[in-house]
Amino acid sequence: MKQIEYDQLISDIKIALANDARTSFAIIGHTPVTYDIVAFFRAVGAEGRLLGAYSQSGGTDCPESWHKPLSVLRSDRPDVAIIASDPEKERLLAEVEPYLTPTTRILFGGYAHFTFRDPVFDEVVNSALVPSLANGYPNILIHLYQCLWNAARLGLKGVVAEFGMFKGGTTLLLSRFIERLGQRWPVIGFDTFAGFPARRSVLDMYDYPDCVCCDIDAIRQHLAGRNIEIVTGDVVLTASRLESEDIVLAFIDTDNFTSAAAALAVTRNALSSGAPLRSIILLAAIGSATRKESVLPPNVYSRTNVTSTCTARACF
Ligand SMILES: C[S@@+](CC[C@H](N)C(=O)[O-])C[C@H]1O[C@@H](n2cnc3c(N)ncnc32)[C@H](O)[C@@H]1O
Repeated sequence: MKQIEYDQLISDIKIALANDARTSFAIIGHTPVTYDIVAFFRAVGAEGRLLGAYSQSGGTDCPESWHKPLSVLRSDRPDVAIIASDPEKERLLAEVEPYLTPTTRILFGGYAHFTFRDPVFDEVVNSALVPSLANGYPNILIHLYQCLWNAARLGLKGVVAEFGMFKGGTTLLLSRFIERLGQRWPVIGFDTFAGFPARRSVLDMYDYPDCVCCDIDAIRQHLAGRNIEIVTGDVVLTASRLESEDIVLAFIDTDNFTSAAAALAVTRNALSSGAPLRSIILLAAIGSATRKESVLPPNVYSRTNVTSTCTARACF
């Protein structure tokens, strides 16, 4: 729980403490926050009004005497129940609901229950050895996974392309997501592996020396054994590799206008107007250049089979 949200929760508890000296409290859940709230009640001398902390694991063999099973709530009948977790608040509420009366007031804090959680996504991302640099905006990896998930749901066929693969961190994640989604889509990754080409437009604004990875052998080794093709060279010259392919997902992460425009020129065929949904394109980290009308196919803003950092989000 973020400090600001914990502080708000404590403030709500103080108001409830001050409003009526007879109000009794229960903490729901056995979490690190539980200990903070217990400490708070002790610090303000209100431990007599705290009936206990209740969880599924609570019981007689618990070292803390205040840690009780949920079923005891039926007889303890607290006036206020404090949910001791932000991300897990929905689960805790569902667990405790049968044991509380409708008049029990519930206090909780934060919005972490809205954050994306998916066991496959978490496992694949958390076990990555090479970090993904898909960080053009905060939820980009989640959106890539959701694009693939929806493409699988829709039965799309073809290849998954990544324009600008750097060390292959995201390339491997894409390949592993695809595998876990039960699909056979090959991944085709593009990069110069020699850094950013010389500027060809004033909108080729990005050139970051730390984002140059030349060790193609190490990258090939890292990606060995997977259904991944590596296309080396400037995408302005190599993007045509996709001309004869159906594209399930194109992730355009080359950072600059000229490169992104070349990638879009090839992938836009998959967006021909009136066609059934067969492709998803995710633009990332190419800054204001991508918002120029001339870069995007004219139907991008109106169609729902395109996702980008700034346009339709219907695929999510
Ligand atoms: C932000 S990094 C890509 C990060 C990678 N997608 C990830 O998620 O880990 C940008 C990459 O684009 C590559 N790049 C930029 N312009 C290119 C071009 N015209 N052709 C091929 N690769 C290019 C750079 O070499 C760099 O490795």
